[in-house]
Amino acid sequence: MKWIIDTDPGIDDASAIITAVNSGALDILGITTVHGNVGLNHTTRNALKLVELMGADVPVYQGASRPILQKREHAAEYHGEDGFGNTSLAEPETKPQAQHAVDFIIEAANKHELSLLTLGPLTNVALAIAMDRGLEKQIKQIVMMAGTSRARGNTSPLAEFNIFADPEAAAVVFESGIPIIMVPWETCLDTVFGPETIAQIRNSSTQVGKAFAQAMEYSVERTTAYLGTEVLLLCDLLAACAAIDPSVITEQVEARVTVETGGRFSRGLTVIDERMDDGSKPNASIALACDRAKIAKMFLDAINAK
Ligand code: RIB
Ligand code: CA
Repeated sequence: MKWIIDTDPGIDDASAIITAVNSGALDILGITTVHGNVGLNHTTRNALKLVELMGADVPVYQGASRPILQKREHAAEYHGEDGFGNTSLAEPETKPQAQHAVDFIIEAANKHELSLLTLGPLTNVALAIAMDRGLEKQIKQIVMMAGTSRARGNTSPLAEFNIFADPEAAAVVFESGIPIIMVPWETCLDTVFGPETIAQIRNSSTQVGKAFAQAMEYSVERTTAYLGTEVLLLCDLLAACAAIDPSVITEQVEARVTVETGGRFSRGLTVIDERMDDGSKPNASIALACDRAKIAKMFLDAINAK
């Protein structure tokens, strides 16, 4: 199985990328960047820099700079204006590939057994599905951090950021029939990392570990203020670890998930139908709980890998 990581780094995206790449467990064809936490230029720059800091040979492809329909959202308040904790990382020496991320996803899906790990808004994936009618049969699975399991939003009262930032794209992906493993916001909130793990990250001596630890402080400060105790929230890391080792998901439910794209107050809501009384079939397996200790170890092993 080959993998593409579609991402909007982003501090928690960085933890996911580091773990996915340095674990060596996934055969990663490339990283595709998308608008999201910050603008595409910054998400792409951060992806390039992370790959360089790991000394990894993973090409980066630039994707969509804006959602399909609505205006662009961002989450700079949680990730910094640069998307990496305002740590003024040096400019990457490498450049993104010339090929557009959407074309790369289509080409890869037609050449390989391909799975996607998506960590940001689903614009690139939706555009690929719209451009290549056969894609929904080609892509084996999507492991995503997205949505909510109990309508507890983080960007609006009901919507999680990756869906809220492009609800039309999310609707296309959930309606595609591609098997989905969805790690929702509530599960991330239930799987935060405490002072012991934070201290272990601060003690990392590798280049990528030190860079992450510096960027992490920005996120720890805000999450701690939000939750009232010193914790680190790394949503995307849970999805990356689920892609590497599905046993990190300790409780899950199959459901029909649809995305609300109308609704004055509910736009971006992932509607979870476990009953499916209308005869519809499940389109997603929703991770309701994850193994925090196993995930923490996978990340610490990855940031100290080299
Ligand atoms: O809601 C959390 C998600 O939005 C994460 O992927 C985070 O990086 C932001 O993109
Ligand atoms: Ca993200």
